[in-house]
Amino acid sequence: MTERDLAGRVALVTGGSRGIGRAICRRLARAGAWVAINYTSDEESAGETLARIRADGGEGDVYRADVSSMEETDAMFGAIEGDRGPVDLLVTNAGIASFQDDIDMPVDLWRRILSVNLDGTFHCVWRAKAGMLARGDGRIVCIASINGLAPSRIRADRLIAYGTSKSAVIGFSRNCAIAFGPAIRVNCVAPGLIDTDMTRDMSDDLRQHIIESTPARRFGTPDDIAELTWFLLSDAAGFITGQTHVASGGLVTLP
Ligand SMILES: NC(=O)c1ccc[n+]([C@@H]2O[C@H](COP(=O)([O-])OP(=O)(O)OC[C@H]3O[C@@H](n4cnc5c(N)ncnc54)[C@H](OP(=O)(O)O)[C@@H]3O)[C@@H](O)[C@H]2O)c1
Repeated sequence: MTERDLAGRVALVTGGSRGIGRAICRRLARAGAWVAINYTSDEESAGETLARIRADGGEGDVYRADVSSMEETDAMFGAIEGDRGPVDLLVTNAGIASFQDDIDMPVDLWRRILSVNLDGTFHCVWRAKAGMLARGDGRIVCIASINGLAPSRIRADRLIAYGTSKSAVIGFSRNCAIAFGPAIRVNCVAPGLIDTDMTRDMSDDLRQHIIESTPARRFGTPDDIAELTWFLLSDAAGFITGQTHVASGGLVTLP
C-alpha cells in the first residue's frame, strides 16, 4: 500500500462538508483520489473541505444534493460523471440524528431520519452500482453507527429512529456485498462517539460518563473513522467485504 494508492480513482463522499465526512474526503484525497464532496445546505463548509484538500495538494469539487431524493442524487452522479468520470469509490456518510424525546416522536421526524440515513444510502449505492458492475470494480463503505448494532443504554429513548435506520444500513450493506461480489466490495463502518457537530450538544456529565466507560478513555476523532474508511477502500482490504467494522475505542465489543 503506497502513499497514493488511490491515484486515478474518483471518490464520492456524501456529507463531506463537515465532521467525519470532511476527514474522509481529506484522507482519500491524500491517497490520490479525486474527491466529489457532497453537501446539502452548508455550501461554505463544503468549500472549506475543498480548500483544505487543495492545501494538502489534492483535487476534487463540491456537489450539492439532498441524498434523500433519488432525483437529486441522480443529477449529482451525472454532474460528477460529466466533470470527472464514473464514481468508483463511494462513501455513504450523510446522516442526521435527533436527540429529542422519541416517546412522542412525530411521524414526520421518523420519516425524515429514515429517508436521509437509509433511503439516502440506497439511492447512492443504486446509482453507483450499475457502472461499478459493468467495469468489474467498485468499492463502497457505508457509515452506520454502534447504535445500529445495539440500542443505546444511555439515550435509548431518543435514538429509536436513528438506531433503526443504522441497523437497516448494516443489513443493506451486507446484502449488497453478497449480491454485487466479486466486482464490488461493500463494507460498513460503525463509529462510536465521535467529536463532531452531531455530538456537540451533549452535557459534560454524559460526555464524562461515556469517556469513563470507553477503554480508550476518549471520544473518537473524525480522523479515526477516516483512516479505517481509507483502508477499507484500498487494495490492502481486497479480501474484506460484507463486514461491519466497529471503531468505538472499545465502548462496543462484538463477539
Ligand atoms: N458523530 C458521531 O458520534 C457519530 C457516531 C456514529 C455514526 N455517525 C454517523 O457518521 C456520519 C457523519 O456524522 P457527523 O457526526 O460527521 O455529522 P455532522 O457533523 O452533523 O455532518 C453531517 C453531514 O451530513 C450532511 N447531510 C445531512 N443531511 C444530508 C442530506 N439529506 N443530503 C446530503 N448530505 C446531508 C451534512 O451536510 P451539510 O453540511 O450541508 O448540512 C454534513 O456534511 C452520519 O451518518 C452519522 O450518523 C456519527
